Amino acid sequence: MSDRILGIETSCDETAAAVVVRAQQVRSSVVASQIDQHARYGGVVPEIASRAHVEMLTPVIAQALVESGFADDEIDAVAATSGPGLVGSLLVGVSAAKALALVWDVPFVAVNHLEGHLYAAFLEEPDLDLPLVVLLVSGGHTMLVHMQDHGRYRLLGSTIDDAAGEAFDKVARYLGLGYPGGPLIDKLAKDGDPQAIAFPRGMIDRDDERRHDFSFSGLKTAVVNHVRRHPDVSTADVAASFQEAVVDVLVTKARRAAQEVGAKGLCLGGGVAANSALRERFVAACAEDGIRAFVPSRAMCTDNAAMIAAAGWWRLQSDGPSPLDTGATPNLRLPLAG
Ligand code: KG4
Ligand code: ZN
Repeated sequence: MSDRILGIETSCDETAAAVVVRAQQVRSSVVASQIDQHARYGGVVPEIASRAHVEMLTPVIAQALVESGFADDEIDAVAATSGPGLVGSLLVGVSAAKALALVWDVPFVAVNHLEGHLYAAFLEEPDLDLPLVVLLVSGGHTMLVHMQDHGRYRLLGSTIDDAAGEAFDKVARYLGLGYPGGPLIDKLAKDGDPQAIAFPRGMIDRDDERRHDFSFSGLKTAVVNHVRRHPDVSTADVAASFQEAVVDVLVTKARRAAQEVGAKGLCLGGGVAANSALRERFVAACAEDGIRAFVPSRAMCTDNAAMIAAAGWWRLQSDGPSPLDTGATPNLRLPLAG
């Protein structure tokens, strides 16, 4: 059995490695953030990201192995994110994983980053029951996924413009808060009034075939227009009201989707799932609806390699190893059931 998996994640601006046993027991999870190197540019610079991954990956893997307590020859397989993400960054992780798999003579498994986010909750909730609905909210994606079985997904809805995290980052940049915006807005919103400004809730009342889709670009424009018209407005009130609008839409749509498909549980994943207001409202909504809420710890919501190792373990069970000529796929999509 290939149970001890070394996971590697380099799709964006975190260099991460982790050792996970049977997709459940996290023996180590090391994340080296490059935020400081990108912050002055207000966003991730792909060239800087690839170079930083090259520098950081070897020590990060070494640390993950040491902390796991396993020797090199006790690792059964190596999993790496092969997409979606920045091509140069992905290539660093995929190449390292294939090299280690060759040297150690163990299987290599290519992992879809989005599938990794879906599996983050499983690391902390071993008795998680399928089917369930997952709200996946990250910097690049906003999706409602019906997870029918392991590896079997149906996309209920997704964003038609900006991803939720992208909206946080753009609004934070406009407000001059810095990068990445999500955590900064989260913090500032605690000092503001979420009801101060009635920002629009994009697509919240749709009841047609697009009812599970999201749109955040109108909200972003509304924030910009409001601040232009009211230059003296409290930035904390803007942050809190903006966050309230995003959370309201996400939670309303997630619980509707769960009701519609009869899911017994709702699960949260992706970087935006680290948001305090979203976590609170999500748990409260599930309690009200009598369904289980699965909310991973913050460290498992944002990019990490433990979730990649976990998803890799499941992929290995279902599909076996990936060929060693697997490359990086920047626009890789979630594999959907027909
Ligand atoms: O999943 P992730 O780490 O990377 C991607 O796969 O995109 O998500 C990063 C996104 C960024 O947009 C960041 O601003 C957002 O997650 N984020 C948050 C919070 N922490 C991270 N958004 C809102 N509140 C937070 N506390
Ligand atoms: Zn991610």
